[in-house]
Amino acid sequence: MSDRRRLLPLLGANRHGSRDSMTCLYRCGNACDHPVPNTSDNPYLGDLVDAEVSRRGVVRAGAIGALVLGVGGSLAGAGPATAAPAGAAAPALPEVENFAAGQRAGNGALTFKAVPPNKLDSFIVPNGYDHAVVIRWGDEVVPGAPELDVHRQTGARQSKQFGYNNDFVGVLPLDRKGKRALLVVNHEYTNEELMFPGFTSHDALSVEQVKAAIAAHGLSVVELERVGDTGEYRVVGKGARRYNRRITALATKFELTGPAAGSSWLRTAADPNGRTVIGTLNNCAGGVTPWGTVLSGEENFNQYFVGGDAAPADLKPKLARYGIDTTNRYPSGSRKWERADERFDLAKHPNEAHRHGWIVEVDPFDPEGRPRKHTALGRFKHEGANVIVARSGHVVAYMGDDERFDYLYKFVSDKKYMKGNSWVARQHNLSLLESGTLYVAKLEYTSAAEIDGSGKLPTDGAFDGRGRWIRLVSGNRSYVDGMTAAEVLTFTRQAGDKVGATKMDRPEDVEPSLRTGKVYVALTNNSNRGTGSNPKADEANPRTANRHGHILELVEDRSDNTAETFAWSLPIVCGDPADPSTYFSGYDKTKVSPISCPDNVAFDSAGNLWISTDGNALGSNDGLFATPVEGPEKGHLKQFLTVPLGAETCGPFITGDDRSVFVAVQHPGEIGGASIDNPASNWPDGDFAKPGVVVTWRLDGGHIGA
Ligand code: FEO
Ligand code: CA
Ligand code: CA
Repeated sequence: MSDRRRLLPLLGANRHGSRDSMTCLYRCGNACDHPVPNTSDNPYLGDLVDAEVSRRGVVRAGAIGALVLGVGGSLAGAGPATAAPAGAAAPALPEVENFAAGQRAGNGALTFKAVPPNKLDSFIVPNGYDHAVVIRWGDEVVPGAPELDVHRQTGARQSKQFGYNNDFVGVLPLDRKGKRALLVVNHEYTNEELMFPGFTSHDALSVEQVKAAIAAHGLSVVELERVGDTGEYRVVGKGARRYNRRITALATKFELTGPAAGSSWLRTAADPNGRTVIGTLNNCAGGVTPWGTVLSGEENFNQYFVGGDAAPADLKPKLARYGIDTTNRYPSGSRKWERADERFDLAKHPNEAHRHGWIVEVDPFDPEGRPRKHTALGRFKHEGANVIVARSGHVVAYMGDDERFDYLYKFVSDKKYMKGNSWVARQHNLSLLESGTLYVAKLEYTSAAEIDGSGKLPTDGAFDGRGRWIRLVSGNRSYVDGMTAAEVLTFTRQAGDKVGATKMDRPEDVEPSLRTGKVYVALTNNSNRGTGSNPKADEANPRTANRHGHILELVEDRSDNTAETFAWSLPIVCGDPADPSTYFSGYDKTKVSPISCPDNVAFDSAGNLWISTDGNALGSNDGLFATPVEGPEKGHLKQFLTVPLGAETCGPFITGDDRSVFVAVQHPGEIGGASIDNPASNWPDGDFAKPGVVVTWRLDGGHIGA
């Protein structure tokens, strides 16, 4: 350890586990200091059990049969591409087959030696593995981008460079051998104290620095190439970057689609038709679709807006339900973006806030195309969205609203997925998320009377139960009393309140396994559960003041992802395995790695569940973990890697050949008292901390984890 490293400031006060107060401020605008936005009194115990639903048995895991479609299966047997009609631009057609998930047979045993918990300012992988930084903040994305110069950053410079605080990572193949690929990354938020030398306050930043921060939000698309025949990838050299693109909060135009597009709630002075939005905000997690696009969730968009106290009175409850301060009592966290663009002042443009909080779809194969915000998938603090093609051919997207006591959602498309890699099929599939049915989840319980908030397992041996998907809207038809379809889609949280959706402990990633169709939900934590007048622990959220979070498994009835009823259980209740309130599917806890605050999930081709963490409340650095979810090894969770000091593990993405694991190292060195002039982390270059994307591979060329 260098002398420089020993002098680093470590002044930050931990707020939630190891999440530093600095992360709380910049990530979500100190959301935890504000009142819980869900003040609805909808029921949270199993007091509305649907008798018919309860009588049905649990779907057995073996009954999946021909369900698995998804990326690889759907394109198998694709014929030659059909030419685009005369006069139309011929789009590139994605080669997604090679990265198919869910195709590898295996017993799911994970053979790597677990990485122990640690507080090192390094990226740590198991013996027999290697890793490399693929791209970091400030690196060239758009050809000709200037080098990162933290003293001279402007909106224009940053608009060509890799953005800040990478979160979601998607890797889409450009050829069938996996030699070249497109990396698509979210840039969730900025930390100006770690970006601009001499930072004193947001008010003291120049307007160009504010524009640089705005441009550091959004997404990046970057061409990669495989290094030799290894699992390593690197950015392709100059001259071969036809797909490289920056999508920013500063300038990129988005098209609104679906039933709420054009509604009065979405019209502003700059966009009187309510159909075109500048920028995307706080893009957190996401997913890759079977038709080769990326979905990205707009999450804590509320923190970018000021002036809610001067918004029209009838809008205030709608703004407040999304965590926007309408009282001027909790004004902390403003980034002062209104200094660069007055649309962030709700006193002047009260509808601008409603134009964020959507699921965004980006087609990385169309570098000139206009990305879209799909209103049919509802508006909330979208963590992300992950899709599966149901047996019927309808596309189902699963989604979480990452807020204490908010809800789980799913969307079922009206149209069916069209197989094949033709231009016609792709155009059809690009429209799938523009119309459909949006549902919110209501959970019921088998052992409600036994839940005391301690995490003690009920006598039937499982936290489990059944549940229903409640229809909110289908096309232009609303199922919520007193709300139009456009209103339900724009103020979806309030629609969920009205129908009595189940209040969950911060639903983050929600992802179906393409191998089984089962859905896994990361419930990250909820320190307010069961405290004061807040909702008490229930069987699906079984711990009071839940610091470590848990994983929920959801099995749709008849193995049909379009079903309106399901069974659920908790395979993992996180924490130190020595803590009796933890649960690892009954696996020997002495062989399990400690895990806290699950956030993003992914699958390898054998169907193992990979989980990254955000804010380890056990005091160690965040990491990436893996566990089988079927068979005798179910619950044998092991830590695969850890990220440097102050960082969170995001992504993750496992390529379909199982030879490469990508993760995003987000907010390294984000520890109170640190600055770019006095960094708390030197990762990755030995000077000041920079968020970056890392690829990990096995030195012997074998399958990751197995
Ligand atoms: Fe951006 Fe819910 O994590
Ligand atoms: Ca039970
Ligand atoms: Ca997240």
